[in-house]
Amino acid sequence: MAEFVPVSAFDLIIVGGTGDLAQRKLLPSLFRRDCDNQFTDDSRIVGASRTQMDDAAFVQMVCKALETYLSEEALDDAVWKRFAARLHYQVLDVPESAGWQSLQQRFGGSDARTRVFYLATIPSLFGETSRQISSHGLINGHTRIVLEKPVGRDRETAREINDAVGEHFDESQIYRIDHYLGKETVQNLSALRFANSLLEPLWNRTHIDHVQITVSEHIGTGNRTQYYNRSGALRDMVQNHLLQLLCLVAMEPPLSLYHDDVRNEKIKVLKALRPITPETVKRATARGQYAAGAINGEAVPGYIDELGDASDTETFVAVRADIDNWRWSDTPFYLRTGKRLPHKASEIVIQFSKISHSIFPESAGELEANRLIIRLQPNEGMMLTMATKEPGPGNFQLRSLPLNLSFNETYDVRYPDAYERLLMEVLRGNPALFMRRDEVDSAWAWIDQIIESWRDAKMGVQSYVAGTWGPSDSVVLLDRDDRAWFQSDL
Ligand code: BG6
Repeated sequence: MAEFVPVSAFDLIIVGGTGDLAQRKLLPSLFRRDCDNQFTDDSRIVGASRTQMDDAAFVQMVCKALETYLSEEALDDAVWKRFAARLHYQVLDVPESAGWQSLQQRFGGSDARTRVFYLATIPSLFGETSRQISSHGLINGHTRIVLEKPVGRDRETAREINDAVGEHFDESQIYRIDHYLGKETVQNLSALRFANSLLEPLWNRTHIDHVQITVSEHIGTGNRTQYYNRSGALRDMVQNHLLQLLCLVAMEPPLSLYHDDVRNEKIKVLKALRPITPETVKRATARGQYAAGAINGEAVPGYIDELGDASDTETFVAVRADIDNWRWSDTPFYLRTGKRLPHKASEIVIQFSKISHSIFPESAGELEANRLIIRLQPNEGMMLTMATKEPGPGNFQLRSLPLNLSFNETYDVRYPDAYERLLMEVLRGNPALFMRRDEVDSAWAWIDQIIESWRDAKMGVQSYVAGTWGPSDSVVLLDRDDRAWFQSDL
């Protein structure tokens, strides 16, 4: 069994402490970690935001949030008592000095404690928040700053933010969140690739025909429509989550799991991505936007109706990514993600090459190439398809059957939320699961080129009916290469 290693005394200040992320993810995740006794008694959690309230009102707000976002069994009374005693609140308007001074007086005392600032605010405040933290003498030898995504909306704005934060914090103190890196099954990719002697010799262009990475969601843009409309699926999902998954599948074996060893390998993959230009963009990408349709039999409105305005923002994107290096040359990675698709599922499909010569008669049926499916969520697990002979005395019939590994069925444990792990890694001072500045920069460089190419090639969005797998261009993208999306029945 994995052990829970306690972290040393800390003050965690959540700027944006009354916001949606704090209530939905951060505070429930911290409570969960407290349930496993990972915090010292004197560790403190401070909510900070413009909302006028005192400590007692904050405790009440957190109590409600935990009741809303955690199951009843998770809410242990004894732990809640301990957790509530850690909670503090500070009224804080980032540009105004008053709140910072008070924060300094209340929590600036000991330099021996870990002090983490979690910036769950809009990115345009990251620079000013860093300046205020610094000018109020709140940076000690154990201070870290966590930046929620999105870090910028293109390479230039990301650079501005990173420069502004970098004026006050060393890169080793900056933790850029990509919550996919905290997911259990994403972590399992390292075990799959580097703890099994079976796969690594096959993990290259000679044996793998192509890779598909799908992150589908059945939800629409909900109450984030205004933010989403300025972003779109490419910026919101591909720039970070899908490219990180691509890196973990495609990177060379790192020297160790030490943070920079892994990040040095990931950055090489990002730099090897072939640029998509106005000449290639129509063949290499598909852009879609959902129209009214139905999910699980329930009617849902189209994106434009939800937004209440005309828009060319994509809610679906598919991209053929080519990695120009020795290992992956001519082995495309097809990425797709979208809102209002039939269901929520994230999976990676490694499609192995066909056998080079068949000894079986045509009557034996079609020989399917092996396929490894890594299911990140839901029903976490892996499946490897193998060709077998159908039993029976008749003629020789081939049939592809799955070797199925279900983590849910194998391990009788709860899958922790990604933020539980990520928060603990910040408190421990281990940046391995966070994005280094050069990764963000290179990812944006590739994404910016796609966005510019869409504009130059005047490539608008193609409509798809909510509850289907995206626009027809997405099918054509693979069909053109004589391939098809693997449709999982998760
Ligand atoms: C976020 C995106 O980063 O990831 C959201 O901004 C998306 O639009 C979410 O819904 C998906 O995360 P998960 O963990 O539910 O797959």
